[in-house]
Amino acid sequence: MRKKIIAGNWKMNKTAAEAAALIAGIKKEIEGVTTVEVVVCPPFTDLKDAAAACAGSSVMLGAQNVHWEASGAFTGEISAAMLKDLCVTHVIIGHSERRQYFGETDATVNKRTKAALAAGLTPIVCVGETLEERDGGQMESVVVRQTKLGLADLGADLAKIVVAYEPVWAIGTGRTASPEQAQQVHALIRRTLAEIGGVAVADTIRIQYGGSMKPDNAKELMSQPDIDGGLIGGAALKADSFAAIIKAGV
Ligand code: 13P
Repeated sequence: MRKKIIAGNWKMNKTAAEAAALIAGIKKEIEGVTTVEVVVCPPFTDLKDAAAACAGSSVMLGAQNVHWEASGAFTGEISAAMLKDLCVTHVIIGHSERRQYFGETDATVNKRTKAALAAGLTPIVCVGETLEERDGGQMESVVVRQTKLGLADLGADLAKIVVAYEPVWAIGTGRTASPEQAQQVHALIRRTLAEIGGVAVADTIRIQYGGSMKPDNAKELMSQPDIDGGLIGGAALKADSFAAIIKAGV
């Protein structure tokens, strides 16, 4: 039985003080919830205060990106060691917004994933097709390619990752994939993971759904056999809606 994992991707939202307040609110709302893993992923500048706010609770801390080199002349980038130093345990890699606006490729996703794993961080590796790709009949090939190339050559570490399926057309649009649509792609991802690392490993890897997941659709999505949680954008920015999604995963 895979334990559900719900992560909030705050994107470029919240100052450090706002982050601490939001985490305090989340902690209060989900007191007593032990059967779901909860991660918040604020911007880098919030991580120190966010770590203090998470301390002593089950809420875990994630970042939104990580560079593959340990240090050096990489202006604007952050290393895995810097994240570890701030009590970060998870990191989102290859989000579609990074692929779309910041030149992220399957090759750089793979490098970041390896660096995160080497440092003991849990990568949340995002895959998902655009509307154009879906309408053009390329959903399968895109998702399989992103999964295979992004997760290439991880060896036994493959078992440590989390995958997030985020159809680009569902992100921030209010247009959620139907539970059946999402399940179909999650099953495809799990088959692909089995091809890479074997069925036994694939069966243990959590695959989150992301894209307009809200309190009113979370339960139905997460009741699908291969949907093991959510990567939440907009609804993660308020304690009550994020908590409601977490409780839907209980
Ligand atoms: P929304 O929940 O706002 O659609 O965002 C999803 C997402 O991109 C999470 O990474």
